[in-house]
Amino acid sequence: MTMGWHMVLEFTPSLVGCMISAGNHSFELIRQSAECVLNLPTLDMLDAVVGIGNCSGRDKDKFAGFNLDVQAADHIRAPLLTACHANFECRLADDRMVKDYNLFIFEIVKAHVAPQPKHPRTLHYTGDGVFVVAGKTVSRRSDFRPELLGNGR
Ligand SMILES: Cc1cc2nc3c(=O)[nH]c(=O)nc-3n(C[C@H](O)[C@H](O)[C@H](O)COP(=O)(O)O)c2cc1C
Repeated sequence: MTMGWHMVLEFTPSLVGCMISAGNHSFELIRQSAECVLNLPTLDMLDAVVGIGNCSGRDKDKFAGFNLDVQAADHIRAPLLTACHANFECRLADDRMVKDYNLFIFEIVKAHVAPQPKHPRTLHYTGDGVFVVAGKTVSRRSDFRPELLGNGR
């Protein structure tokens, strides 16, 4: 499935929150397997990204239908999409908010990131069928205080 609603929740362990509607085939697959891969696509994959988000794996094999090459993950059974810039192997860490909010909290157990390009043209969904594409980068690394981003626990 295509997913736009997600957020980082913690560094260590590496946690992300994902909103996956209960009507999606992916919802049941993840409920049963307690794992998934988050694949980070780039602009060249836009048609596949939209197409995959407009049909259900319940009705068709999207891997075949969208010519998606896969490779085996290291720690889980779900496969990685080879064409994506990054792939995050995830295990379900907390399902307490699934019932009320369809919000799955995953732990990233392995990250695969292509070394090139350094600044990939990744897609970021803004809603209503519109994306922004990563482009110019700006840095304030000298002012960055990572110690303030901890969880305070
Ligand atoms: C750009 C885009 C973003 C989407 N974001 C989400 C999302 O964050 N959560 C969600 O549940 N569905 C989202 N969807 C819808 C699912 O991708 C869609 O329902 C898909 O058909 C589910 O596939 P499945 O039934 O094979 O799991 C999005 C679709 C598009 C096109």
